[in-house]
This record gives sequence, structure tokens and C-alpha cells, in this order.
Amino acid sequence: MHRESRSSPSELQLLLLRFLLVQHRWAVVGGWRDEIRRRASQRGLTAEQRLEAGGPRRRRLEAGDQRGRAATPGAGQAHHGGAESRTAGCRQTGKAHTEATKQQEVKLPTDSPQNQSTWRHPRRGNNAALPSPALMAPPSPPPATTLFKHLVLLFLLAAAAGASAAAPEEEFTEELLLRPLPDRKALAHFYFRSSTPPAASIGRHHHLFPKAISQLVKKYHISELELSFTQGRWNYEQWGGFDPMSTSNAKPPGVELWAVFDLPLSEIDATWKNLTHTLSGLFCASINFLESSTSFSAPRWGFKSNEGNLRYGALPREAVCTENLTPWLKLLPCRDKAGIASLLYRPSIYKGYYYSQKLKLRSSQSLGIILDQTLTVVLQPNTINGKQLHSSHGQLQPSWSMRHLFNRKLSGKCLVSKSSRVFIEVDKGIVDKINRSGSDLSWNNEFFVLSNGPDRLIKDLINLEVQSSSIYEYDVSNYSEEKPFDVGITWKLPLIWSCTPSPFHVSRFLMGSGNERGSIALSFISTNLHKKIFGSPNDCSIKAFIFQIVPWYVKVYYHSLEIFIDGNRKTVSDVVDKIHVTPSEDKLLPGTLEMLLRFPCSMQSATLTLDFDKGFLLIDEYPPDANQGFDIPSALISFPEFNSARNFPETDPLLGSPLLENFQVVVKSYTEVLLVPLTTPDFSMPYNVITFTCTILALYFGSLLNALRRRIGEEERELKKTVVIVKKRSLLASICYRKFVDELF
Ligand SMILES: *[C@@H]1O[C@H](CO)[C@@H](O)[C@H](O)[C@H]1NC(C)=O
Ligand SMILES: *[C@@H]1O[C@H](CO)[C@@H](O)[C@H](O)[C@H]1NC(C)=O
Ligand SMILES: *[C@@H]1O[C@H](CO)[C@@H](O)[C@H](O)[C@H]1NC(C)=O
Ligand SMILES: *[C@@H]1O[C@H](CO)[C@@H](O)[C@H](O)[C@H]1NC(C)=O
Repeated sequence: MHRESRSSPSELQLLLLRFLLVQHRWAVVGGWRDEIRRRASQRGLTAEQRLEAGGPRRRRLEAGDQRGRAATPGAGQAHHGGAESRTAGCRQTGKAHTEATKQQEVKLPTDSPQNQSTWRHPRRGNNAALPSPALMAPPSPPPATTLFKHLVLLFLLAAAAGASAAAPEEEFTEELLLRPLPDRKALAHFYFRSSTPPAASIGRHHHLFPKAISQLVKKYHISELELSFTQGRWNYEQWGGFDPMSTSNAKPPGVELWAVFDLPLSEIDATWKNLTHTLSGLFCASINFLESSTSFSAPRWGFKSNEGNLRYGALPREAVCTENLTPWLKLLPCRDKAGIASLLYRPSIYKGYYYSQKLKLRSSQSLGIILDQTLTVVLQPNTINGKQLHSSHGQLQPSWSMRHLFNRKLSGKCLVSKSSRVFIEVDKGIVDKINRSGSDLSWNNEFFVLSNGPDRLIKDLINLEVQSSSIYEYDVSNYSEEKPFDVGITWKLPLIWSCTPSPFHVSRFLMGSGNERGSIALSFISTNLHKKIFGSPNDCSIKAFIFQIVPWYVKVYYHSLEIFIDGNRKTVSDVVDKIHVTPSEDKLLPGTLEMLLRFPCSMQSATLTLDFDKGFLLIDEYPPDANQGFDIPSALISFPEFNSARNFPETDPLLGSPLLENFQVVVKSYTEVLLVPLTTPDFSMPYNVITFTCTILALYFGSLLNALRRRIGEEERELKKTVVIVKKRSLLASICYRKFVDELF
């Protein structure tokens, strides 16, 4: 009610505005036309030539408009071709985008209201510099009659901006979490959230929220979507597998995309295909390869429970680089020019051990759209003063600071962000050690010291009693170019700790040899986590979901499933609670396996094996460098009884940190990507055949020509000559020999 009463005057204003715009446009266009006519008549041109004279300018405008649109959904439709055309298209889009921006910024003042769509989006990235559309519309040197209208227009625009500020607002927050890791590395997790209220209250206008994303959500009726680009593998043993950070940010290598649609089931596959094209245009990646029905699947319950409206696809071999990061940064209101994102200095983040960039969307009628963009990197800090202290307890952890990790300083926040914070998280292992040593958990304690005193210390409690980790919070709103923000950690004593692992370490490998058949094995090794969490009852069991997609050319025989627990073979029905298999179809469907297993708590290790036959592909279905092998996407293992969550009892809901939000995440882990060698034809064979045939032909024709060119008479004469010479020579030789023998004796 309250909202509606607020929004209606602004709508009225918009209507008025639109009317005035049209009027204004006609005035300007009229003046412009008169000008052309006047100049043309001065030069004595004909009517057609007059039209031509106005041509180039209009064409230029149209070009600018089209280029501007290239960055919105639908642009991806153009990238049906292979990877080459994709990258070419990408470069063009990127370039065109910046050009369009420039053009709009330059052209707008003179031709501002040529069309609403151009003029409503001056450039959403530069919101900091251009706070309201009112500033963007200084009209061209106007004829005196329209001056009044312009003034009214300006006034109305300012009023409209004011009204929309009162309505439910779009918000943006930026956060960064830093954490030392046990293997002398450091984790940095960037978190940006943009949200927009439901469309009804805000219309089609956006101040902060990326328009490309809201169009995408509207066009394809997406209710949830997650897209991740990852390079490197999350080290579950060292970097943990249980806390919300590793559970939700450890992703399989390459690209992973899943989406839930709010559509009738019959339309979902077609929409998914269009969506992959749009995303590949937006993010400069070959996501459009997920269009083919052999590469995506519709999991029922193994991945995430759904009503058949979820689609999942993965491209394990997609290389991730800056060309994917740039479009991702473009969705942020300040890009990487200000605020926390300015720390993303490419050479330092791509030097890391793990890099994962993710985009998560949630949308509903009541919520509006929430866009979470995260970027997780694991970096190797350079020790600040090269001091390597050895002692009986081990080696001192490297001390680092933000400036050393990223090679950049943080000079203030992105001006449009609601909050801008940096957190340093200290693991449970360290907290326990500090507690055991009897000292206090302040920022300057026995083991380490932080370079600045934090604004707040947040304690994370498990079960509201046992403390798990603690977080030091810094507000970076009050820092500026003159007073940049930097925070670091310096270790005083050597410390060895470990992160909480997931209940089982899961790995997947290939067995068998030859090009005909093989088997896939999944191995589970218990980390005895359940004892720490549930105590140690003997007759309990642990549930695990397995979700695995297998491409059609790996023909898995699902009946050959064998399960070994602690080395003893078990019947399948003892362990498998539920199983759902979608068999693959040649060149049509991938195979999908969803299983719910129940392992006894006392189990230390388990192995599952499945046999498969290797298929044959047509010659043009092989990817480049087929001899490397074929990648089978990672399997996902989730443990539904284990939830990782953060609980911060002393923090109020006003804390408003999306990064630390108290959400329950089921513990999940991904296995490695599996590389399967298939029979590959010898692609160099045609070349070999050509060189061989050419050599033989050359030899044949050479000798044939030689034979044909010779005359027989000459040949015989030659022959006789040689015979005579040979005879003379042998005579000479025998004489010499005799003389030699005579002289000897
Ligand atoms: C502006 O562009 C839109 C879409 O391109 C078009 O439908 C509309 O008629 C145009 N408006 C004017 C006033 O030219
Ligand atoms: C997908 O795109 C094609 C081509 O642009 C279009 O004809 C089709 O209607 C779209 N389908 C859906 C479900 O959006
Ligand atoms: C260590 O933890 C226990 C319980 O978890 C608590 O009672 C105790 O006060 C802590 N010690 C210090 C020094 O913080
Ligand atoms: C930032 O500055 C404002 C006003 O100058 C002040 O009220 C606020 O407490 C400061 N915040 C921090 C975290 O220092």
C-alpha cells in the first residue's frame, strides 16, 4: 500500500516526461531540418541531395545505438558459429561497448532525446560520476521557444530522480574476506551483491542494477541461475571442505552452469538453448556448446531437488581468462575503477593456485532480483621482509598484507555502495590453539598481530557454544585516495593447524587399459568428522548423494555397479538407498547417474566401480587435440546430513552482510575431472599418404622420363666403351699385381 502510493506520482511524472520528450524531440528535429534545408538551399542542392545531407549523421547515430544494444541479451544469438567466431564476436562486442559508451557520452548533450532507450541509459557503470539522469541532459543550444520546456524538463527530471530515491531502492554492497590457509597460502573472497526490488515498483529503470541481467531474467523467466568459471582445483585436504566458504565456492574446473526456470516444462529445453547463447555473448565464453542435447541434463534430486525445471551443464575444458573477467566486472556499478574491485589486479590474481569467478541470480515476484557476484582466489603471499624463522615447532607462516597480495592499495569504497567492508577470518584451528594457550583472542595476541585494530570482532559459534572461527571486521567507507586502506597479518610464533574437512575425501579415477573398455572408480575415505559432530555412536549411518554426468561416448553399464566397503564386496541393495539412471543415447543424450548411498559410520573407505565401453566418433566430432583425451565432468557428492553454517549470536540482522549471511549450506564436494583416452584416428595420416604418394610419383616419372629420353644406340656405345675401359683396367691391374709379386720374391 505504502509503496504504491509512493510510486504512482513518479509514474505520472514519467508519463509527463515522455510527452515532453516527444515534444522536445520534434522541436529539435524540426530546427535541425530547417537548418539542413537552409544550408542546402544556400548551396543550391536538390531535394534528394538535401535528404542525403542529413543521412550520414543519422546513420552514425543508428550505428551507435545498435552497438550499444550489442551488450544486451540476444547479442549472443549471433554466436552460433564455432569458437573462432565467438572470440572475434567478443572482441567486437567489448570494443563496441566502450565505443558506444563514448559516443553516447559525447552525442547525448546535442541529440539527447532521439529515442528513449538510448537516453535512459547514459551509462550505468559510471553512476558514481553521473549520479542522476538530470545531469546527463543538458540540451543542445536551443531555439529560444524551447528554452522554457527545457527548464521544465530539467525540473521534472530532478523531481523524478527524487521520487525514485524514496521508492524501494536498488542496493549494492561490496565485501572482501581474507583468510590465511594452513599450507602457507592466503584465500581472498570478493563478494558483490546488487539487488533490485520487484519490477512492478520500479519499472524498467535501473540505477545500479545491471540492465543486461534484468533483461535476461525477464526474457527467460529464470528463478535461479548459477554460472561459474574456474581455473585450478580446490584442495579439499588443505583448504577445508566443511565451512560455508569451501562448500559454496569450491567449483569444478572450467564452466558450470545451472538454471531453474519458471516456465511450463515443454518450453524449458528451448529456453535453455537460447539462454546459453545469450550467456556466451555476455561473458565471452563458449557456453553455447552447452546448447547441444548431448551436453546438458535435467537432474531430478541428485543435484538439487526440483520439479523438473532445472537444467545442468558443465564444460570441463573451458579455459578461463581475463576476457571472462572483464564482462563480469562490467556488471558492477564501479567496475574495477573504485572500491574493493579495484584490488583485482590481473597479474596478481591469475598468478594464484585457484581462481573461481561466480555469478548467482535469484529472482521472484516478492524478492525482485538478487545478483551475487563472487570471486575466490588462493594466492601465495610473498613474505614481507623475507624473514623465514625456523624453530622446533616448525616454520613461521608468511606474513602478508593486502598490498602485498594484490599489488594494489584500497583507496576508499565504491561511492554508490551501501556498505564496503573487509574481513579477516581466522580458522577454528587457530582459535582453538589460542584458547588452549590461555591468551585472549584479540587482534594482537600471542600468535599473530593484525596491522590495524579492527572495527569489530565477530565470533562464529557452532551449536551456540563451541567457537569455530572469528572474524575481524574493517569498515573501509572512511578511507580515501590520500589515506588508503591496508591490512595485514604478521605471525609471531610458528603455528600448524588444519581446516575442517568434509565427512569423506572423495576422488575418482580410471581403471583398465586399452582402447575398448575400462571402468570408473569412485573412492571415499572417511575423515571421521561424524565423531566430532555427532559423538561416536556405532550403529549410525551417513548419507551421500552422488550426481554424475557421463558423455554418450563413454557407454556406462549401470548394472555392473560394484561396491566395496573396507575392502569387502557388498551387495548393492545394502548400500544404495535410491538410484536414478538416465542411460545415454548415441549422439543425443548424455548418461546421468543419481544415487543416494548410506554408509555405516564405522566405515573407513569405500569404492564404487562401474564398467564402460568406449564409443567411436565421426571424424568431425573430434575436438582439436583429440589425442589429449576426453574430459568427463566432475561428479558432485553431497552430504545432506551435514550443514555448514555460520552463526553469529551477537550480530543483529542490521549487520547486513551478505557475505556472512547465516545460510545453511549442505556440505558438497566435487571430484576431479577425469581424462578418458578414446580411440583417435591418426590425423596426420592424410599428410603422410600425400607425401608418400608424391615421392613415389616423382620417382616413377623421373625414371620413366630418364628411360624415354635415352637413345638405344648411344646406350650400347656407352656400354661398349665402359666394357673396354673395364677390360683395360683389369689388364693393367693384373700386370701391376704380377710385378708386385715378382719384386717381393
Ligand atoms: C525507440 O526505439 C524503440 C525500439 O527500438 C521503438 O520501438 C520506438 O518506436 C522508438 N521511439 C521513437 C520515439 O523513435
Ligand atoms: C529461441 O531463439 C529463437 C531464435 O532467436 C527463437 O525463434 C525462439 O522463439 C526462442 N525460443 C525461446 C523459447 O525463447
Ligand atoms: C576457551 O574456551 C572455553 C570453552 O570453549 C571457555 O570457557 C574459555 O573461557 C576459553 N578460554 C579463553 C582464554 O578464552
Ligand atoms: C566515518 O565518518 C563518519 C563521519 O565523518 C563517522 O560518523 C563514522 O563514525 C566514521 N566511521 C568509521 C568507521 O570511522
